[in-house]
Amino acid sequence: MIAPSLLSADFTRLAEESERVADADWLHFDVMDGHFVPNLTFGLPVMQALQAVSPVPLDCHLMIENPGRWAPGYAEAGARNVTVHAEACTDPRAVARDIRAGGALAGLALKPETSLDHYLDVLHDFDTLLIMTVEPGFGGQSFIEEVLPKVRRARQLVDTGHLSLFVEVDGGVNGDTIEQAAEAGADVFVAGSAVYGADDPAKAIAALRARAAA
Ligand code: DX5
Ligand code: ZN
Repeated sequence: MIAPSLLSADFTRLAEESERVADADWLHFDVMDGHFVPNLTFGLPVMQALQAVSPVPLDCHLMIENPGRWAPGYAEAGARNVTVHAEACTDPRAVARDIRAGGALAGLALKPETSLDHYLDVLHDFDTLLIMTVEPGFGGQSFIEEVLPKVRRARQLVDTGHLSLFVEVDGGVNGDTIEQAAEAGADVFVAGSAVYGADDPAKAIAALRARAAA
């Protein structure tokens, strides 16, 4: 699945920007609070407004402190998937339960240096594992190849039946790096600048899909 990130879209035209990627699988919505990451974007009221008009299901990535306070609201508003950061959660299982009760898939995100093994038990309660391939906070950064072994390990755990999850990569995904991520076993690819930085986002999505399948 390809999930364009609105972080690289024109913030004055969010509805039109969602329509430009109508053939994407998920639309990635990066929520930043200026505390968990050193940047600030948009929050629940903007998500609710976009949810009402977006032709693509929303994939909300909460880069915020105290995610348990806010994550259920995104699920109740109609998000397809709501992802919280492991580093920000005191009780990830409780957050997953609340997200699912709100009607969304529950995702757990790991920063590049956060170990997967530490979260193997709690991942049984999640539907999506988001592996950051840049430090969260900004679009347009370079893909960190050193994270690929974590993607491989996640794929192996899914393929051997130990976990049942989407394996999502986020950060620096473009026509080149998507091949490495796909080869390592990712099945959801977030791409911000590679989609919205292109003249034709729909063509960029098709090209990414082709490269991921190559
Ligand atoms: C970074 C965000 C990403 C970002 C990716 O903190 O989580 O979703 O939009 O942007 P690119 O694809 O440009 O690296
Ligand atoms: Zn993101």
